[in-house]
Amino acid sequence: MSCSSVMFSLFLMAPCPDGGGEDVSAAVAASVSNPQRPAADIAKDANRKPAEVLSFFNIEPGMTVLDLFSGGGYYTEILNSLVSEKGKVIAHSNEAYMSFVGDAFRQRHANGRLANTETVIVEVDDIELEDKSLDAAMLVLTWHDFMYADPENGWPAIDEKLLLNKLCAAMKPGAVLGLIDHVANSGDDPSQVAKDLHRIDPQIVEDSFKNSCFTLDTKAGFLSNPDDDHTLGVFDKSIRGKTDRFVFRFVKN
Ligand SMILES: C[S@@+](CC[C@H](N)C(=O)[O-])C[C@H]1O[C@@H](n2cnc3c(N)ncnc32)[C@H](O)[C@@H]1O
Repeated sequence: MSCSSVMFSLFLMAPCPDGGGEDVSAAVAASVSNPQRPAADIAKDANRKPAEVLSFFNIEPGMTVLDLFSGGGYYTEILNSLVSEKGKVIAHSNEAYMSFVGDAFRQRHANGRLANTETVIVEVDDIELEDKSLDAAMLVLTWHDFMYADPENGWPAIDEKLLLNKLCAAMKPGAVLGLIDHVANSGDDPSQVAKDLHRIDPQIVEDSFKNSCFTLDTKAGFLSNPDDDHTLGVFDKSIRGKTDRFVFRFVKN
């Protein structure tokens, strides 16, 4: 049985054929199969492949995991059950994201339904994280937003180096920083393509992490889509949900 069908079983250990080749643990499978997950999230699984992603990022019960720019909380929801009551999820958002997905965020977190999750709404330059507290951080579909500022439309300039320094201090040695984003063609103007299409050239991300405390451990191809020529915005109906995405696993030194 393929690793993509893991959500239908708690005990599959099939290697993924299209990227990491990692096994899916029973805990990851159970968190993806959690009957509390909203149907709208489950409908996205075929394209987002959460079992493969969370296995590739080595997320396990008991961990403290930062979901930076958690958006509507698709990953927060799964992480909440995966880390279990022995761990913790920090679901971050900022003012601009809240103006887009605030309703989804509030519904997701209403009445403390995600019991293992703490919400933090703050501009990322001001985020405060406890030293050596994080076992993992997920930055999913968000790094491109650090490439531009658009204050007229509410998007602040983000100090990428400051963020990396904060993450370096907050993550434990060996902790995984999992990063996924929509691929842009190399040569495109980084800030323009980020602002207009919400994409980024993966090489720019690699370059940003050079000389930081993180090593690029492995890349995975299971969210690749060769039919995406990277010229359309990621919210274009013809490509939405199926964009060509890169998956990087960085490890804190
Ligand atoms: C700004 S992003 C990232 C927020 C959060 N980190 C997450 O992963 O959901 C959130 C938006 O991107 C959308 N999205 C997810 N996968 C996508 C894809 N492959 N192409 C286009 N949009 C996608 C989601 O539905 C959501 O509205």
